[in-house]
Amino acid sequence: MAKKDDKTVKNAPLIGIDIGGTGIKGGVVDLKKGKLLGDRVRIPTPQPATPAAVAEVVAQVVQELSTQPHAPAPDSPVGVTFPGIIQHGMVLSAANVDKSWLNTDIDGMLTARLGRPVEVINDADAAGLAEARFGAGENVKGTVLVITLGTGIGSAFIFNGKLVPNAELGHLEIDGFDAETKASAVARERDGLSWEEYSVLLQRYFSHVEFLFSPELFIVGGGISKRSDEYLPRLKLRTPIVPAVLKNDAGIVGAAVEIALKHKLVK
Ligand code: BGC
Repeated sequence: MAKKDDKTVKNAPLIGIDIGGTGIKGGVVDLKKGKLLGDRVRIPTPQPATPAAVAEVVAQVVQELSTQPHAPAPDSPVGVTFPGIIQHGMVLSAANVDKSWLNTDIDGMLTARLGRPVEVINDADAAGLAEARFGAGENVKGTVLVITLGTGIGSAFIFNGKLVPNAELGHLEIDGFDAETKASAVARERDGLSWEEYSVLLQRYFSHVEFLFSPELFIVGGGISKRSDEYLPRLKLRTPIVPAVLKNDAGIVGAAVEIALKHKLVK
């Protein structure tokens, strides 16, 4: 049983939860290594994914994680990701999620439901933080842009290892369209595009983002970062572009990193 004052111990493990469109995943995160200390817990996202229904599943995931050997103290803070803009604990956009989330006090709601401090961060921002600390962006100075290709396009803007939150670069308007509606991984499947055809859209997208921000590095995350051999070699950019290293656990790890940073439990 963890001691009550464990939550004040620097670098002690914390729980991270990743709210996605199909699954709500969580793990106990080793903040020194950026890895999960036990098995990942995943429960399908309830449909419709309303705030109350999602909060119940988050509570179940936390409950299950609390039985793991490395579980932190029951009053330790929990970090959570959400696929929308999060500012001051409020959900301020809902592009690919149930519209009832708009203007929900997600921090307050989950803190009340779990009976312990909860802070929520945008999903791509969490993945970006994890990559900056433990993955492909480790020790990279200057601007690093982490772009996640999934249901939508998420982005994290990292400068000298620090996150500039809520960069919504998936919603850049390109050729008259909201970029993620054409160039996300789900759009590729929906439109039945070959990798070659999809690469043309990615080329257009990444060239534009490169022109706007001149980053030092692009990191590509999301499920299709596993298939990066199919499209990254086809892209012609002056910026190096590499697949994410943390794969499936990036959101969980990033959520735990963010809450640890907020509570000054890591540097
Ligand atoms: C949302 C972002 C989110 C991304 C990936 C976009 O539609 O606007 O906030 O990070 O999808 O889930």
